[in-house]
Amino acid sequence: MGNYTLPVLGFFFVLLCGGNEVHASHQYLQPEATREAIQPSRTSYHFQAPKNWLNDPNGPMYYKGIYHLFYQHNPYGAVFGKTIVWGHAISYDLINWVHLNNALYPTNAFDAKSCWSGSVTILPGQKPVILYTGLDIKNQQVQNMAMPKNLSDPFLREWKKYSHNPIMMRPDGVNKDDFRDPTTAWQGEDGKWRVLVGSLKSDRGLAVLYRSNDFKKWNMYDHPLYSEANTGIWECPDFYPISTNSREGVETSSRSPQYKYVLKASIKFRDYYTLGTYMPDVEKFTPETGFRNLRLDLRYDYGKFYASKTFFDSAKHRRILWGWINESDSSADDVKKGWSGIQSIPRAIYLSKNGRQLIQWPVEEIERLRRKHVGFKDKKLEGSSLVEIPGITASQADVEISFKLPNLKDAELMDTHSVDPQLLCSKKSAAVSSKVGPFGLLIFATKDLTEHTAVFFRIFRDRNRYVVLMCSDQSRSSLRKGVDKTTYGAFVDKDPRHEAISLRSLIDHSVIESFGGDGRVCITSRVYPTLAIDGEAHVYAFNNGSLDVVVSSLNAYSMNKASFVSNIGS
Ligand SMILES: *[C@@H]1O[C@H](CO)[C@@H](O)[C@H](O)[C@H]1NC(C)=O
Ligand SMILES: *[C@@H]1O[C@H](CO)[C@@H](O)[C@H](O)[C@H]1NC(C)=O
Ligand SMILES: *[C@@H]1O[C@H](CO)[C@@H](O)[C@H](O)[C@H]1NC(C)=O
Repeated sequence: MGNYTLPVLGFFFVLLCGGNEVHASHQYLQPEATREAIQPSRTSYHFQAPKNWLNDPNGPMYYKGIYHLFYQHNPYGAVFGKTIVWGHAISYDLINWVHLNNALYPTNAFDAKSCWSGSVTILPGQKPVILYTGLDIKNQQVQNMAMPKNLSDPFLREWKKYSHNPIMMRPDGVNKDDFRDPTTAWQGEDGKWRVLVGSLKSDRGLAVLYRSNDFKKWNMYDHPLYSEANTGIWECPDFYPISTNSREGVETSSRSPQYKYVLKASIKFRDYYTLGTYMPDVEKFTPETGFRNLRLDLRYDYGKFYASKTFFDSAKHRRILWGWINESDSSADDVKKGWSGIQSIPRAIYLSKNGRQLIQWPVEEIERLRRKHVGFKDKKLEGSSLVEIPGITASQADVEISFKLPNLKDAELMDTHSVDPQLLCSKKSAAVSSKVGPFGLLIFATKDLTEHTAVFFRIFRDRNRYVVLMCSDQSRSSLRKGVDKTTYGAFVDKDPRHEAISLRSLIDHSVIESFGGDGRVCITSRVYPTLAIDGEAHVYAFNNGSLDVVVSSLNAYSMNKASFVSNIGS
């Protein structure tokens, strides 16, 4: 790690004054002039480690005016490694960050091999506590606890481990590799604390439930909170209440008849969630959909997005979701780049009005990075046409577009109940014309479209309803071979007869985070253009259907870089 240290007051000044000073110190680590030439795929406003490997977000919290983000990190290389630690960074606005020293790293028998994922719980009296998985000296997964060394340090730089670790050992019948990732704990009206740990027991994925009176001695409850057969292991479970009548987030321990509960499990590189009800007196969670048919279950994101975690932001009364966005290139490429893995832009999440699903939207703070704006309203986009969105930095942008569909009744017929939307998107790629669609955005596009990533919609008629399919087609994103160009897709729960169909894409050099139908479907993709870089990248609105559509509104912005300052001591 570097040894660039500023006195605390100095870097407070830098943070508060923003802009130039921050960039000046950033340049010390990585000269900006050469950055793009050497690192065309390094992102400018997504969170990354200063270098090397990053995976799961850990223990996000808001504490005494500061946001903390910890993350799984290999300090020794750009690939997942034998020693994983907790990287640590702080922010005042969730966008501009200061990297601090690693917060947790192997020190004892109970975490001798690695400090794996976990969560923070803020105990009464404003005392944050970390629960995390230790890979112990015998390569067993156990659960441990750590507390800040000095609660007066506003940055909580140093953490001390509880002397009686481990505090949870795996249940009988669970393999030593299948017991990890404790959630944020919640407290019932009976005063007891509860926490979930992800696991697998004889072909059932499960969320093992532990309870405690004092947060130190934990007893496994006699049944898991929830389990399901044939899913594989549940990693990084998350469990939290969500309001049914407000967009405001609620604290993890708070209770009301107005809340539903969200249970999320990370399964085979996809983050699935189900809504449901929870009765703490009998520890019963009743899901509405469950994880029964993994193909059609609800997901946070239908692209690259895994091992996510939420926290309650008491400053703005919202629940915020972070997720790990993996690379799509090879480990050898990552070694060459010197880094791998980014975090999503944090997303505020709330329940949809009809109560059937979650809505996700980039936190409003990201809008402060918006610079130059271009826009228009009510413009016809004829069949088989495209229009450039000019004048913005197309490789570092925030683009919002809405479509109205005057010709719905001629939409293609389809029985959508039995189809896999992702497969449908790869069969009917952007290059396949139908009547209503494909229409959407061409991102990271060269002028001749040799390279482009198409994020688009297509409308089907299914009996007497209309079904909106959203796709992200990476097949022509890059001339490079050997990168994962899987096409992603999902159905959007929107009725195009009554509402415009919107798409917002956050574009940042090698990542596109797309929010379709006002945040009903999110698809994140990683792409590595070779030609559509910086000034050679363009963004277009396109309609490759045979019938006209109308762009009811377009607002596109160049984005500034976020600042990432290192305050890592030696
Ligand atoms: C705790 O942190 C405060 C604020 O940074 C500092 O003044 C104090 O010296 C620290 N105490 C110890 C024991 O390190
Ligand atoms: C990350 O991406 C690489 C390259 O596409 C892939 O081989 C690997 O399985 C992915 N891992 C996860 C956890 O998504
Ligand atoms: C539009 O469709 C035509 C064929 O109908 C195809 O050749 C072309 O590549 C498509 N454009 C895009 C951007 O996919």
